[in-house]
Amino acid sequence: MTVREILKMGDERLLRVAQPVKAFNTPELQALLKDLDDTMLAANGAGLAAPQIGVDLQVVVFGSGEVNPRYPDALVVPYTVLINPVLTPLGDEEEEGWEGCLSVPGLRGVVPRCKRLRYQGFDEKGQPIDRRVEGFHARVVQHECDHLIGKLYPMRVRDFSRFGYTEVLFPGLDDADD
Ligand code: NI
Repeated sequence: MTVREILKMGDERLLRVAQPVKAFNTPELQALLKDLDDTMLAANGAGLAAPQIGVDLQVVVFGSGEVNPRYPDALVVPYTVLINPVLTPLGDEEEEGWEGCLSVPGLRGVVPRCKRLRYQGFDEKGQPIDRRVEGFHARVVQHECDHLIGKLYPMRVRDFSRFGYTEVLFPGLDDADD
């Protein structure tokens, strides 16, 4: 088990456009995924992207298949490894929701995201993934895939009156962030 250091906002490596994965089902990719899993679990995150641990590849993991205690009202997001993703909005409808990020610890903000989304890509074995999702699942995918194009959620915040410290906004919530 290797819990890796999570880079924080301000680190230039979080601003890169990540490189596509060229070889699937390799020991290197398996090792990266294990580190992402271990790091996400240790931080109680809803997702984690390879650039957040300093790896310049288009790889994200998200979901748990269980209700996240920090988002008890959210629908269950299945555990997913998503590589070389392509996101296509389905319709123009946007939805606002609170987000946090392990690279922006201690803060939360309201971010508008596309409500319905198709996402395509590959799993770690190179098998295609093609899903249509909405709501929290769509939000998590958009947040994680933003990390692959150098975007952190504060760059998406439009109303900074709804951006602040978790402990102030949500007293009693544990201080983990995702
Ligand atoms: Ni994040």
